[in-house]
Amino acid sequence: MNQKTTVISPEALRIQQENCQKIRDYWSALGITPVAFVDTYGCQQNEADSERIRGMLEEAGYGLTDTEEGADVVVLNTCAVREHAEQRVFGNVGALVHTKRRHPRQKIFLCGCMAGQPEVVERLKKSFPHVDGVFNTHHLWEFPGLLLRCLTTGKRVFAVGDEAGSIAEGIPVTRQNKLKAWVSIMYGCNNFCSYCIVPYVRGRERSRKPEDVIAECRELIEGGYKDITLLGQNVNSYGKDLGIGVDFADLLEEIAKIPGDYLLRFMTSHPKDATEKLYAVMAGSPHIAKQLHLPFQSGNDRVLKAMNRHYDRAKYLELVRQARAAMPDIVLTSDVIVGFPGETAEEFEDTLSLIEAVGYDALFTFIYSPRPGTPAAKLPDPVSRREKNAWFDRLCETQNRISAARHRAYVGKTYRVLVDGRDGEQLTARTEGGRLVRFSGPDELIGQFIPVRITDSTTWSLCGELV
Ligand code: SAH
Ligand code: SF4
Ligand code: F3S
Repeated sequence: MNQKTTVISPEALRIQQENCQKIRDYWSALGITPVAFVDTYGCQQNEADSERIRGMLEEAGYGLTDTEEGADVVVLNTCAVREHAEQRVFGNVGALVHTKRRHPRQKIFLCGCMAGQPEVVERLKKSFPHVDGVFNTHHLWEFPGLLLRCLTTGKRVFAVGDEAGSIAEGIPVTRQNKLKAWVSIMYGCNNFCSYCIVPYVRGRERSRKPEDVIAECRELIEGGYKDITLLGQNVNSYGKDLGIGVDFADLLEEIAKIPGDYLLRFMTSHPKDATEKLYAVMAGSPHIAKQLHLPFQSGNDRVLKAMNRHYDRAKYLELVRQARAAMPDIVLTSDVIVGFPGETAEEFEDTLSLIEAVGYDALFTFIYSPRPGTPAAKLPDPVSRREKNAWFDRLCETQNRISAARHRAYVGKTYRVLVDGRDGEQLTARTEGGRLVRFSGPDELIGQFIPVRITDSTTWSLCGELV
């Protein structure tokens, strides 16, 4: 596996711009305005990648559509984190045989994390001949060239080598939302948690230069964006590979100096690298949302060790205590895995008790899914699916009770919220901590920070009224 970061040269990116122009020429010679459909299956990082794919497609003259039916190119940006995600993709790729039959000039591309697995690429080559192109996350920036080659030769194209753990600056972006933006500050992951496929499919950790990240954030803020999420698999190790003495807390502090009316968030923080310095920076700036997503995965020390997480329960609880000491109203969320191979009923109880001890605002809960090639997939896994499901249900019940109680505590108080849209009769908004609020009001409020008094709550959201 490649260990080195390749910074894609401006020259190489200019060639891709030329490829976009050639694709425009190709279609205009045919007198056709082509349309593209980009379908995203993964996490925010994948969403951010899809915004770049859409950006390149628009540059190449494509209009964007939200259905595969009649699209001239379909791009499936896939996720490999759990088996279920992959099965959905294979199901949908299979179904594209029919859309392509109805629209024979349709080109089908598959990219993202599944394309980082050699056995998936083999299966696509052999069993899905209607897929025209496959590229992994390292080759995202080359998409215009791949598409051009596919259009002009009619041949299938594969860019799936891992020789380039790449960073490419200046790829065009078409953002989905006018208020909220994702900004990747780093790519890849070095942590090799024993259950996780991400380091294999996204390569080694590599940080963008602080000045590039700051410039992108400045442009967004000046362009009216109100809510910016900095992305990385473990933002807390930002900068380690740059060797210029800038860590994530420094970067965050610098970005938060940009003047304007906005909130900064980030994900994900790995507990092994969370620091009090980071909490102090968060506490010190009104631009940084008092929200922390700090995945714990398990509340049991033996399981944490088997997961290769590099912290124990006591250290995790201490991090939570420090965060709350610095920011008493901080909203805490987390990820947890139920049924890691060999997890016992007693060990699962430790996970439940950690949830009770922390009192998260919300939790993302997953049943362990074996990923071929990861160390955990080779471990004996004697607990039945039925039992794991029962644990999972108890976990969800516990968290739902806690979430409902935490939401009840909002009632009667007034919060500053960012109004982000409309859902039927009501406006929708988010608190600084990211909680969903619904209330009645005029559309003119969309895009503004306003105070709302919370009048009622449910497990999942809050109801309010204009103050
Ligand atoms: N880099 C982030 C999360 C990446 S994946 C972090 O470290 O927190 C998002 C979540 O998916 C993980 O936090 C984990 O809870 C879950 N996950 C990852 N691999 C999984 C697997 N094989 N089975 C079930 N859940 C998994
Ligand atoms: Fe996966 Fe662990 Fe890396 Fe997160 S930190 S992406 S869970 S290996
Ligand atoms: Fe994200 Fe899924 Fe890849 S969670 S990093 S899209 S495997």
